[in-house]
Amino acid sequence: MYQKALSNTGLKTLYIDGFAGSGEVPLADHEDGLFDDDVKSVMAGSADRAFNVSPAFARYIFIDKRKACIDALKAKFEDGINAHRVRHLVGDANRHVQELCANEKWQFQRGVVLLDPFGSQVKWPTIEAIAATEALDLWYLFPAGLSIFRQIGKDGTVDPTHEQSITRIVGTEDWKTAFIKPSKQGDLFGKVAANEKVVTPESATEFMIERLKTAFRGGVLEEMIPLGKHAYPSYYLLFAWGNPSTKATALAKKLSKAAVKATDRKHGRLV
Ligand SMILES: C[S@@+](CC[C@H](N)C(=O)[O-])C[C@H]1O[C@@H](n2cnc3c(N)ncnc32)[C@H](O)[C@@H]1O
Repeated sequence: MYQKALSNTGLKTLYIDGFAGSGEVPLADHEDGLFDDDVKSVMAGSADRAFNVSPAFARYIFIDKRKACIDALKAKFEDGINAHRVRHLVGDANRHVQELCANEKWQFQRGVVLLDPFGSQVKWPTIEAIAATEALDLWYLFPAGLSIFRQIGKDGTVDPTHEQSITRIVGTEDWKTAFIKPSKQGDLFGKVAANEKVVTPESATEFMIERLKTAFRGGVLEEMIPLGKHAYPSYYLLFAWGNPSTKATALAKKLSKAAVKATDRKHGRLV
């Protein structure tokens, strides 16, 4: 849809996958009988899907920390008619995405960035760099359950490594007062803990949406798509767009809402 909407605008389009993987996603639940027997045990990964859209993006940049993943992508795409459009980068997505945002010329380009980390890898300055281009839209699998909610104890304690990691993800220390409050309740023995965790995966995501709004001049989709296994929202898929023009905003809203609606309920959302 993005490609169709932008064809004939004279703008060159770019797809950046920060955590590109190998082009295939193993379906671990296959063995558990969750999927029908005729369903394959792997599904196409984000890089493979983006590479095969029609019309194709003018350029693709696939980034992964693991060389083996990038080698697998190279092998997968080398015979494709769009192979010449692809640039492969091995290394940390934060470094590469920030460099690309700073060094590319954005005047005649528009793009989509997908950030699909395993956990707490995306650093706030990367989000800011994407937003500052005002030419890139962002789809971000925000690890609300995995890297925020689960890292805070019921009594509000967080180990120092996780404390730093949460601050790195959301780019502020304000989460501490938003997610942890002075405790009102005593335990069974009347002992009152100093603090309690008040955050949920959903409220952590609402906090992140507000943070994204401070960076993206275009806007942020208010709708959050929970994703995860065993009905637990390990991630929420978020969308933000950088271009503040009325036309770009209308298009971004239309595209993102349609994409949200079209989410594959079997492999996406909560299963
Ligand atoms: C959840 S997987 C991505 C799956 C992919 N989007 C797909 O649909 O096939 C996360 C990927 O991020 C890579 N990775 C982990 N830390 C990274 C980092 N700091 N920078 C870039 N890639 C990283 C891993 O090697 C892994 O392939």
